[in-house]
Amino acid sequence: MAGPSNPKSLADRTRLVLGGRKPADQFGFVNTPIYRGSTVLYPTYDELKARRQPYVYGTRGTPTTRALEEAWADISGAAGAVLVPSGLAAIVVALQACLKAGDHMLVTDSVYRPTREYSNTILKRFGVETTYYDPVIGAGIADLMRPNTKVVFTEAPGSQSFEMQDIPAIAEVAHARDAIVVMDNTWATPLYFPPHERGVDIAIEAGTKYLGGHSDLLMGMVTANERCWKMLRDTYDLMAIVPGPEDCFLALRGLRTMKLRLDEAGRQGRAMADWLAARPEVKTVLHPAMPHHPGHDIWKRDFKGASGLFSVILHPVSEQQLAAFLDGLELFGMGYSWGGYESLVVPFDCSPYRSVTTWNPGGTALRFQIGLEDVADLQADLAAGFERMKASV
Ligand SMILES: Cc1ncc(COP(=O)(O)O)c(C=O)c1O
Repeated sequence: MAGPSNPKSLADRTRLVLGGRKPADQFGFVNTPIYRGSTVLYPTYDELKARRQPYVYGTRGTPTTRALEEAWADISGAAGAVLVPSGLAAIVVALQACLKAGDHMLVTDSVYRPTREYSNTILKRFGVETTYYDPVIGAGIADLMRPNTKVVFTEAPGSQSFEMQDIPAIAEVAHARDAIVVMDNTWATPLYFPPHERGVDIAIEAGTKYLGGHSDLLMGMVTANERCWKMLRDTYDLMAIVPGPEDCFLALRGLRTMKLRLDEAGRQGRAMADWLAARPEVKTVLHPAMPHHPGHDIWKRDFKGASGLFSVILHPVSEQQLAAFLDGLELFGMGYSWGGYESLVVPFDCSPYRSVTTWNPGGTALRFQIGLEDVADLQADLAAGFERMKASV
């Protein structure tokens, strides 16, 4: 196999199959093996002094980690990528790379809750001030920018409440003030939202979700454009928050089928969202690909697809009715995380932690992660749940 003469012209599916693989370097075996190791030996004193060789120490990369870094940077359209042991660690490393004492950061009010907690506690302790903004603010973010605003932290859609954000408009304002746009792009992945093409400087993804895809892996990736790559890599090398080699191997395995799984989760998710929207128990469905969603036009303009995660607002039900619905489900598990092959549901309430917007959906909120089971089976499971809900009044 000679390898592609023009790799940039290849479609995402092909790039995911080829990315980071070098069979000729490993006796023809298709997959990059698991390299375990801290120490790397240098052949001569000269080489040791110059640190010229491709691998110098375990925390600075192995063939396994580099394969994943290269493939992820390629699919993200990034100048480079670093790997960390969880999505939350990716957020921490990205922000540590950008911020110093005395800086100000703008964060979307719809942000993944641990990002908020990290900002309000650890970053605050280190002298960084955070202001939250309405996720639908768009170019209006200009009014919140201060001379010391260094980072605008975006996430679209919100992973519970599903507000969309006008990332290009926010990026234009931020860049005019020399601020860095960071985005949690876990919901869409670079396959459905190419972050750096849309103005994002640093993107984080929880590989725990669709990259791993099998609920057996924790992983985070941070990518940067040319402007921020050196700063990110230098910070990462000093922090040495590195994932284990087995996890990188599993992530590389997940990478090969990621587009197929994501496309299928998106199709199944949409079928379930449409079915739920037609149920009498459902007040509304929060899914950006549905035309009634307030952020639908932005989704259509900027995104190439929708993953299998969305929320539903039920007409108000009692705690007892909610328990009757959830506890008897046979196929839907109740648990956090998402992006795996199995379907999940969790109730949620954003109201206790919103600071500049109000979460008052007028009913009981449930988040659904739709996996790869048969849709008719999933619908039957939920239909039986709605019957139990009715019967438990
Ligand atoms: C939107 C979003 N970002 C980041 C994370 C963090 O990922 P991890 O669980 O790997 O720390 C999650 C996890 O649920 C998430 O939903």
